[in-house]
Amino acid sequence: MCGIVGYIGKDQAAPIILDGLSKLEYRGYDSAGIAVFDGEHICTQKAAGRLAVLEHMTRGGESMKGFSGVGHTRWATHGAPSDLNAHPHTNKKGSIVVVHNGIIENYMALKKKLEKRGYEFTSETDTEVLAHLLDYYYKGNPLEAITKVLHRVEGSYALGILFDDCPDQLFAARKDSPLIVGKSEEGCFIASDVPAILKYTRTVFYLDNQEVAVLRKDNIEFFTVDEEPIEKQAVTIEWDADSAEKAGYEFFMLKEIYEEPKTVTDTISPRIKDGEIRIEELKFTDEELKNIQRIHIVACGSAYHTGVTAKYVIEGLVRIPVEVEVASEFRYRNPIMDPEDLVIVISQSGETADTLEAVRESHKRGLKVLGIVNVVGSSIAREADSVMYTWAGPEISVATTKAYSAPLVALYLLAMKLGRVRGMIDDALFARLLEDIQALPDQIEMLLGQKEKLQHFANRYVAAKEVFFIGRGIDYAIALEGALKLKEISYIHSEAYAAGELKHGTISLIEDGTLVVALATQPELFPKTVSNIVEVKSRGAFVMAVAERGRKEIEKVADYVVYIPYTNSYFANSLAIIPLQLFAYYIAVGRGYDVDHPRNLAKSVTVE
Ligand code: AGP
Repeated sequence: MCGIVGYIGKDQAAPIILDGLSKLEYRGYDSAGIAVFDGEHICTQKAAGRLAVLEHMTRGGESMKGFSGVGHTRWATHGAPSDLNAHPHTNKKGSIVVVHNGIIENYMALKKKLEKRGYEFTSETDTEVLAHLLDYYYKGNPLEAITKVLHRVEGSYALGILFDDCPDQLFAARKDSPLIVGKSEEGCFIASDVPAILKYTRTVFYLDNQEVAVLRKDNIEFFTVDEEPIEKQAVTIEWDADSAEKAGYEFFMLKEIYEEPKTVTDTISPRIKDGEIRIEELKFTDEELKNIQRIHIVACGSAYHTGVTAKYVIEGLVRIPVEVEVASEFRYRNPIMDPEDLVIVISQSGETADTLEAVRESHKRGLKVLGIVNVVGSSIAREADSVMYTWAGPEISVATTKAYSAPLVALYLLAMKLGRVRGMIDDALFARLLEDIQALPDQIEMLLGQKEKLQHFANRYVAAKEVFFIGRGIDYAIALEGALKLKEISYIHSEAYAAGELKHGTISLIEDGTLVVALATQPELFPKTVSNIVEVKSRGAFVMAVAERGRKEIEKVADYVVYIPYTNSYFANSLAIIPLQLFAYYIAVGRGYDVDHPRNLAKSVTVE
């Protein structure tokens, strides 16, 4: 989604803003723009297309002199990606400049009113209404004008605003769209996400809903939407700056796949103490955990797929019924929920609009929400009753990899904790689970060692037209993620099917040479999956199988086999996903695509 960067300080603003925007490219965008106060006026430059176009126009920011400014990368919602629709937007005189993330839902009504008062609109965006409304309310007090506007608009926003007669101030505000404020010795910053300013500062403030920040070069003041001053606590970002850089990898996606052993360790280790699972952030008493009647897992995309796996794990180990649902369906379904149910939401960004709304919907019904979240201080993390952070560090590639593996193991830990508290896991089983979960990082490392083999195999399928992923039980959950990974970055049509469901329709699509990826990691279901492999083979499919080491018999039916090391069958997803991520990656590289920025996709989906 869109990205915002703003700066006011001792240094030239434009190069800092452009550099910050480049760190937000991963979010997805189709145009970019920048506005800088040059001492007399605010100068604005914007262009459709990649940030490189804007960098070229401004000679890397050199041609825009000034010590305060705002920049924006736009992911089109209202109006096509074009120079005119790109942000910043301004009032007619160009004296008030706005960059905006989110959607102003009542912009049509506001636009009509403004037009009646003689305001002329030059873009198709909802954002332009903000610039004119600010102009309408501005009588010399910018904070007053901003808060009046915020009282009028409905929807979501993260805003960066400049007024040319307040050259020493930069304004920011947010509601339901992420925005952080940073401070260093050299100046103050606003940004949609930490990587944009990590090079300059680690001291940040998280703006809450309907809060306004007034930044000067050496101080920041915060206000409520009613202009009441508020105190905010600074947070120190612990990520090292390298974690937001490619570190020699061609794409962030490969770097992030290689970070998975560490990510899994970082999620597990702090929560295993003295041979027990201790999830200290879990603000539920053992009594409350014992009383949970049902669990609702709500998430989107890959995060949803971790939830599908968790259903098998929690139901299998703990015997609590689990419902898993994509957040965009959950929020409008009027789900049947009991106050003793637990809601678990899973989100890497912590900003996904539908998932955030699921948190609010659950709260309205009096349910407690546990968030499994990666981004510290994100909206979901702040609104959930308890948060298990996954400590995966910044994930830049749009296609999630390490931030898929991290919540998976967090969910295993939660299942083990619930099983322990509810007396469903005896000492012997617990000891085995503990040993197996702690072995995962090394086993993932070992699978990464097979990278070349997978690259070689992927090269043979670079021209594939479609790929089917099949599996049963947890293998079906793995298939869902394998298919998503492949389609989102390679644009090859790929679908996941419960293997037993194939012959109810989909098998008619199998023809000579169709690639089928069969997941066969679950010992109890192994013979059944083998039968499904035979079915597709006899219709001409080429089968790549992923199976547990030692299951040599699969070589009789599959054409190509990747073996995963032995683990408890509940944890197989954590291993089987590695070859599927590598496979998707190498196919996309082989097809010459920009792996980290797949078309039409954004890293963090902050609109419905
Ligand atoms: C996966 O590779 C995706 N880019 C996407 O499905 C993602 O998992 C989904 O949008 C949810 O995002 P979140 O985890 O930040 O909530």
